[in-house]
Amino acid sequence: MSKKRNILVTHALPYANGSLHFGHLIESIQTDIWIRFLKMMGHQAIFICGSDSHGTPIMIQAEKFGIAPEKMIADMQVEHQKDFADFGIAFDNYYTTHSEENRELVETIYDRHYKAGNIVKRTIKQLFDPVKNLFLPDRFIKGECPRCGAKDQYGDSCEVCGATYVPTDLKNPYSALSGAKPIEKESEHYFFKLENFEKFLRDWTQGGHLQEQVTNKLNEWFEAGLRDWDISRDAPYFGFLIPGEKEKYFYVWLDAPVGYIASFKNLCDKRKDINFDDYWSTISQAELYHFIGKDITYFHALFWPALLHGAKFRTPTSIFVHGFLTVDGQKMSKSRGTFIKARTYLNHLDPEYLRYYFAAKLSNRSEDIDFSFDDFVQRINADLVGKFINIASRCASFITKNFAGQLAKECKDIPLFYSFSEAGDEIAEKWEKLEYGQAVRHIMALADRANQYIDEKKPWSLIKDPANTAEVQDVCTMGINLFRVLMIYLKPVLPMTAERVEKFLQIKPLNWGDKDNLLLDHRITEYQPLINRIDPKQIEAMKMDAQQDIKNSQTPPAVTANTEAATVKKTETISIDDFAKVDLRIAKILSAEAVEGADKLLRLKVDIGNEERQIFAGIKSSFQPEQLIGKHIVVVANLAPRKMRFGMSEGMMIVASDGDGQLFLVEPQAGAKPGMKVK
Ligand code: 2FM
Ligand code: ZN
Repeated sequence: MSKKRNILVTHALPYANGSLHFGHLIESIQTDIWIRFLKMMGHQAIFICGSDSHGTPIMIQAEKFGIAPEKMIADMQVEHQKDFADFGIAFDNYYTTHSEENRELVETIYDRHYKAGNIVKRTIKQLFDPVKNLFLPDRFIKGECPRCGAKDQYGDSCEVCGATYVPTDLKNPYSALSGAKPIEKESEHYFFKLENFEKFLRDWTQGGHLQEQVTNKLNEWFEAGLRDWDISRDAPYFGFLIPGEKEKYFYVWLDAPVGYIASFKNLCDKRKDINFDDYWSTISQAELYHFIGKDITYFHALFWPALLHGAKFRTPTSIFVHGFLTVDGQKMSKSRGTFIKARTYLNHLDPEYLRYYFAAKLSNRSEDIDFSFDDFVQRINADLVGKFINIASRCASFITKNFAGQLAKECKDIPLFYSFSEAGDEIAEKWEKLEYGQAVRHIMALADRANQYIDEKKPWSLIKDPANTAEVQDVCTMGINLFRVLMIYLKPVLPMTAERVEKFLQIKPLNWGDKDNLLLDHRITEYQPLINRIDPKQIEAMKMDAQQDIKNSQTPPAVTANTEAATVKKTETISIDDFAKVDLRIAKILSAEAVEGADKLLRLKVDIGNEERQIFAGIKSSFQPEQLIGKHIVVVANLAPRKMRFGMSEGMMIVASDGDGQLFLVEPQAGAKPGMKVK
């Protein structure tokens, strides 16, 4: 075997404010296949990840849920880890950027750059939300596109005409958080002088660390000039304070990649066989790889190497950039129901279908990758099950029934077996070079040959004549051996199936080197289906659930509907028909209690006449739970149920607000009964 390598691999850290979806999975699956392959080859490969836990969107989301950001990111981390584990993504460590290790590392890196003169302070003007009292990130500013006039466009680009611009170009801008008109406000910020690293970066980006398309993109950025990078954000912000400051924080994109190092450091503290400096010092002999999507290339291929180099850490060996995932040829879209969450998929389909499908579609280029439902079903049913699994199912029953599970003592068709095992070098090279689609095609061509062999030998005919019994054993032993070699080649993609196969064949966990050995004179167990075909009904059911997820996510949570009523953007008048759609009912509060882990929420059980509902309301600051029990209130009874962290919210309670946080009950006149319509 080639020399044992020490390899550290990361993929982008998912934000801890939303569920994982197909877009995350393509990257996780790509990375996991690589890691599993390297481990099978006997290398020390370490897979590091964690939650990207800081920033304004995280802070705002936690506020919407009515919980502390610390609680939200911790819960989200648990959810993500569970989803990843169920997809077979085998991290060696999954941590968080909101950690002491990360704070220390960020401060060290910052301090080294500060002392080297790579950080400067400058006063800038930014848009500020006077209601929420915070500076607005571009994505939180909306308005009319300066080019085509489309309404409600984000502060950085227009989804209608594709124009890109700065938020101050928007016409009639408003804060997406409060609806208020933003004002321009000055603030002093810290900037990282990227241009100080121009020479280093020009060399580094030409140094074979990047795919060709990525290098070309970077050349465009060099031509446009390297601009200073604003690495600070004003309070309120969820992140790390800049040393010496009370109101200024490090921008999330500074501490996020440092989170790779912090997660590794955390692992070193748990595992004594790895040493931090062996991987991160400037003289490290280890290899370091980052898998990312093309949208975050600038951060990883320019800022990140510059940050590392200037702070005396080693730089990446390579950055692998993949394209975006499209679904049925189009951008993943909530309205088309093609925005599929990891858990929604798992509720209906085997995770290995998706691992196989993505593997079949991936290459080492950063082109977009399409998920097509029809192609998905076809490839799983016709290729994975119809070709690969079929080899085992065709041979195993003969061995079980006629030879008590015993494989033949010798192999009669050595050249065929060796043609399979020798193909392993080429397939290994394809996995190594991230040419997964090519690897899968090669493996499936071998599966075709194995099936052809069985077709030619026809064990089902041979078995009819007792004189041929031994030949049936030979043929099926060969079939099982060919299947076993293909299982080795596919093990990085199908780790769960591989485990089932190892049980079925009663063998130790397969490694790459096992491809050269034959399994002879050995007892296997009875064949059980290893992977089932997809029933198109499963796809339909998953799509329906994906639609429901979207409806749930578009319904404002009961908590925000109550507390933010005073600050939502003013809408124009509504028609009587619009109003008639809202089913307002009298309800009686049966129980009220605080929700553990939520600062603002009360859990209410209410009687709305013909049924009991659970409602989460963000009203804790204004009411004691006990004072609410028995009260009659008004609720919106036909709001789509919303899944919240603590359970379903099945309606919304109407309250009056003075705009400063004080809420008042809206109670009907005595005599009004639960279930009465409010008109
Ligand atoms: O784009 C994203 O989803 C970021 N959370 C990725 C961060 S990768 C790394 F820098 F932490
Ligand atoms: Zn436009």
